[in-house]
Amino acid sequence: MSERIYARIAGTGSYLPEKALTNEDLAKTVETSDEWIRERTGITQRHIAADGQTTSDLAHEAALRALEAAGIAADELDMIIVGTTTPDLIFPSTACLVQARLGAAGSAALDVNAACSGFLYALSVADKFIRCGDAKKVLVIGAETLTRIIDWTDRTTCVLFGDGAGAAVLVADSDTGILSTHLHADGSKKELLWTPAGVSAGFGDGVGSSGTIKMKGNDVFKYAVKALDSVVDEALEANGLSKADLDWLVPHQANLRIIEATARRLDMSMDQVVVTVDMHGNTSAASVPLALDAAVRSGRIQRGQLLLLEAFGGGFTWGSALLRY
Ligand code: UT7
Repeated sequence: MSERIYARIAGTGSYLPEKALTNEDLAKTVETSDEWIRERTGITQRHIAADGQTTSDLAHEAALRALEAAGIAADELDMIIVGTTTPDLIFPSTACLVQARLGAAGSAALDVNAACSGFLYALSVADKFIRCGDAKKVLVIGAETLTRIIDWTDRTTCVLFGDGAGAAVLVADSDTGILSTHLHADGSKKELLWTPAGVSAGFGDGVGSSGTIKMKGNDVFKYAVKALDSVVDEALEANGLSKADLDWLVPHQANLRIIEATARRLDMSMDQVVVTVDMHGNTSAASVPLALDAAVRSGRIQRGQLLLLEAFGGGFTWGSALLRY
């Protein structure tokens, strides 16, 4: 019988743009308050990319840190996958732009657009390539400049989102790593969370109206809680594991109330949940790897621990990954 191959996280990295925008800053420009934003979302600040700073710039910084942590050189990579909804260009992909900056020519490079679930989708693709033996070292990135598609006059969305990037280097390992990933989508709910502009649909009258994020937050909230409940159960059942086996929940950072609901479902104390939404806001595909890197670098997440990653976002898309770190 052939030995099982796992995709193990060898190193993580992340990057946040320098400028932070606080709730108080926003309250000066739209009718909102620090109290409302903190109570309803848990957010106190978010980072904003500088003028001219692109998604691939953020992704590149996160990638350098992940490669350094993994002790792997860029030219050893077989594949680069970037989860993003806010690529630099229509094409080439953000992954190709990052690849050129890293000097990893020859590796495969592709973007995955699954909105806030982008990192989970990208991680799952990487896991499959490693597991089947077609790749041994894969760089997976979640990176966004969401603040470029925000309507700064819409208080129901502009207080929520931020920019950033997170990355993980996956390597083939015979002992341990990702146990399973679980991906889902429901395209029939697209109007609840979307940016209704693009290449073949047309750019309408441009960013500032059709090219900005539209969300029916309350509806999204309900779907998110339900979908996340089912996808975390699915991950545990698929591996014959129970809630008590989990060491850490590394959730998508959209709203502290959604995170708390998933933690309750898993009977986990908030001490076992990585929370960065307060400092980062919702960074879409970047949120899970940013949270993961924060917990790894602070020493909270330790080798050998069992981690459950999950995300929910536009599409709708949602997914989870259960892994032994
Ligand atoms: O990452 C992708 C997935 N996205 C999510 O998971 C987001 C899910 N949704 C949410 O996180 C929450 O629904 C929000 C944070 C977006 C909104 O919280 P909510 O508790 O669902 O509020 P709501 O939309 O029901 O609005 C309640 C009230 C409304 O006023 P009325 O109609 O009750 O008078 C809103 O107009 O709060 C008002 N409101 C605000 N007030 C102050 C909405 N945004 C703001 C604001 N400041 N920024």
